[in-house]
Amino acid sequence: MKVELFLSPNSVDELHFTDRTVVVIDVLRATTSIISAMENGAGELIPVASIEFAMKMSNNLFGGKTLLAGERNGLKIDGFNLGNSPLEFTREVVNGKSIILFTTNGSKAIAKTKFSEQTMICSFTNISAVAELLLSTRKSVTLLCSGSQGLFSLEDTVCAGMLAEKLLQGEDEVNVSDSVKTALVLARKFGDNIGTMLKESEHGRYLMEKGFTDDLSYCAEVDRSSVVPIFLSNAIKAVTA
Ligand code: MLT
Repeated sequence: MKVELFLSPNSVDELHFTDRTVVVIDVLRATTSIISAMENGAGELIPVASIEFAMKMSNNLFGGKTLLAGERNGLKIDGFNLGNSPLEFTREVVNGKSIILFTTNGSKAIAKTKFSEQTMICSFTNISAVAELLLSTRKSVTLLCSGSQGLFSLEDTVCAGMLAEKLLQGEDEVNVSDSVKTALVLARKFGDNIGTMLKESEHGRYLMEKGFTDDLSYCAEVDRSSVVPIFLSNAIKAVTA
């Protein structure tokens, strides 16, 4: 099993994902919110790469079953039903609904993997379930951190390193790239206190300034979910481990 890692979507062409098993990580907060939505019964979630496309899609859907969700600069977009806080995607709000999601980095990173064989959505909240699913398929995997504005982000890289650690523990023959080795070092350094690492990260500090401190606590809850959302044919649906 080979494990490779891209620290930002900008460092890879979309064709690289063709027919691969991919894992996308955006701990703060897109992938954590998607896991929360799926855990709470959302029927499907469609990640999009622009606000205009999100609007256009929602105009073509009807029946009151579709919600528009997402953020710009961390805050809910005017005219959208929901922002991008995992705490907003409660069962009362999302059960049975289709959700169109636009976020600054995460939804774009997921949409970029549209040619993959399958893309798993990962965060600290479902990390063991993702590892279990990957180990059961035993296929080589490409990890993709959403990062921040095309750059590295600490929280996504630590999560990727923790996931790689679980794969190394679960399988004898794992061949990891240099970027995975780097992520493993960071996961070993910061993995024991995810809450503190998130609070000290750049985006974590920004979110706290905007009043989202409770989101950080939620995003730090390792393995609170056993749901693995899978992006396939342009939509995300849930698989329970
Ligand atoms: C993103 O995709 O950039 C985010 O998830 C930002 C956020 O909502 O905190």
